[in-house]
Amino acid sequence: MLSYQHGYHAGSMADVHKHALLAWMLGYLTQKDKPLSYLETHAGRGLYQLDAPEAVKTGEAAAGIARVGGLGWFAAEHPYSAALGKVRAEHGVSAYPGSPLVAEAFLRAGDRMVLAELHPQEHTALVEVMGGRAQVLKEDGAKMALRLVPPEPKRGLMLIDPSYEIKGDYEAAARLVRQVHGRWAVGVIMLWYPILTSGLHRSMVVDLERALPDGVRHEVRFPPAREGHRMVGSGLFVINPPYGFSAEAARLSRLFEGLAPFSG
Ligand SMILES: C[S@@+](CC[C@H](N)C(=O)[O-])C[C@H]1O[C@@H](n2cnc3c(N)ncnc32)[C@H](O)[C@@H]1O
Repeated sequence: MLSYQHGYHAGSMADVHKHALLAWMLGYLTQKDKPLSYLETHAGRGLYQLDAPEAVKTGEAAAGIARVGGLGWFAAEHPYSAALGKVRAEHGVSAYPGSPLVAEAFLRAGDRMVLAELHPQEHTALVEVMGGRAQVLKEDGAKMALRLVPPEPKRGLMLIDPSYEIKGDYEAAARLVRQVHGRWAVGVIMLWYPILTSGLHRSMVVDLERALPDGVRHEVRFPPAREGHRMVGSGLFVINPPYGFSAEAARLSRLFEGLAPFSG
């Protein structure tokens, strides 16, 4: 089932949470002069325009990155600001980077980037935007992940960011995290999940924490982007987070906790 399109949700509060911590981790990991692998199982199209009809229709970017920009959550030297600045300079002031372009802002010549995206149109757009700077596969993300781990270079990060279109996606995501960790003990694995009013994520998180007690769970809540919107928060489960991750996550928690309801 491939009906999900991230263009409707790009720049949402969930993206702010996910992309800010992804940028922070890659900023940290690339300080060391050693090559790394960046693998992504559900990459999306890589580049979004926040004035496009889909983004305007949901209002999620207005309640997300547009709001946060005005609140000064990220100093100019924060890695997320650096990624946003790079993409806006290259693609215009309304541009917003998906996770592949967030990652690309940090990766160096000797680093390896492999992205899986199954949706034909999203895949075509991603190939175009990456312009040969990544290996872009039209392949099931889980199959790609299990085929390539442990990757070479062995040091690196995998983002698993499914669209959770069906209930079984939660169980599949937890299974994939366990399998990838089983084959790649040193890899940083970052799983994103939505926090919905239905609480569908809960059993997945219980399962992950039981199987991987050293993993770090970080969840934030935010006011719904519009009345009746079922997504009320964003979660990350991270294995082998770099030093300092918990402090940055705690800083974000305080900012999210201080958010007043969104008035549009
Ligand atoms: C949540 S979006 C990705 C957003 C992106 N990671 C970002 O943060 O910018 C999920 C993407 O996964 C793609 N997708 C769905 N099922 C997939 C599968 N089995 N393998 C690879 N991609 C898939 C969808 O087409 C969609 O573009």
